[in-house]
Amino acid sequence: MSLPGRAWQGVAVALLLQLHLLCTVAYAYHDGDYIHASRKSQFHQRRTNWQDLLGQHCPRFGMDRLVALPVPQPQLPFVETDSYKLQLSFNGDRLLTQWLPVIGQDAPDIPLVHVRLRRSGDEVLGVAAEVVDAPAHYKDLHPLLATELKNVTHWPKHVLLRYEWITENDVDLDRGLYVLFAIGIAAVLLLMLNALRGMHAKLAQFLQEVTSDDQLGPGGVAVWKGSAKGD
Ligand SMILES: *[C@@H]1O[C@H](CO)[C@@H](O)[C@H](O)[C@H]1NC(C)=O
Repeated sequence: MSLPGRAWQGVAVALLLQLHLLCTVAYAYHDGDYIHASRKSQFHQRRTNWQDLLGQHCPRFGMDRLVALPVPQPQLPFVETDSYKLQLSFNGDRLLTQWLPVIGQDAPDIPLVHVRLRRSGDEVLGVAAEVVDAPAHYKDLHPLLATELKNVTHWPKHVLLRYEWITENDVDLDRGLYVLFAIGIAAVLLLMLNALRGMHAKLAQFLQEVTSDDQLGPGGVAVWKGSAKGD
């Protein structure tokens, strides 16, 4: 009894594993899906709470995009020697950037926040961000942005965010999933085979004992019952 019982437990575990894999795939991102993003601001050593970004300012899975994020006016007066920093979080606060100086002393003239998102298959793996001086062609494309930034009294200002996606070992992950599926199916087959073999052995033993019982007479039956109980 013990071997087939354990085998069915094994089958159940293997099936659960397959189900888990299917669920993992089902909750993954597709190309163009919006990635949840929020931001925090720091100014005069004070930090705001997390504020969600609107969809139009969020990254989209696998799509490189450039957005202009509005930066609200701080509560305290802003002078030119101040530094205004942003921190971004993505994918339900699982991925965080460092504090990024976007306006003021530590920031470049026209800041461009370059956000590199790493993905593999359907998952977002990581994020890295840096503030760079916007290339000349961006400055030419968004002249209003530059005048806004230079004007101390103009709010909200806009900061350019450039989302870039980097794909890592996409093929390997797919292959890995196939291998896992194959292993799962093989495990199920093996366990079923084992269960069958166990039953076969029991059947063979049973048949052997029954045949020998025929020769031994009623006494032999008692011997077989004893062995079954002890099993
Ligand atoms: C700065 O912005 C304010 C508010 O938008 C505006 O009234 C003012 O004319 C701007 N100053 C310059 C020099 O553009």
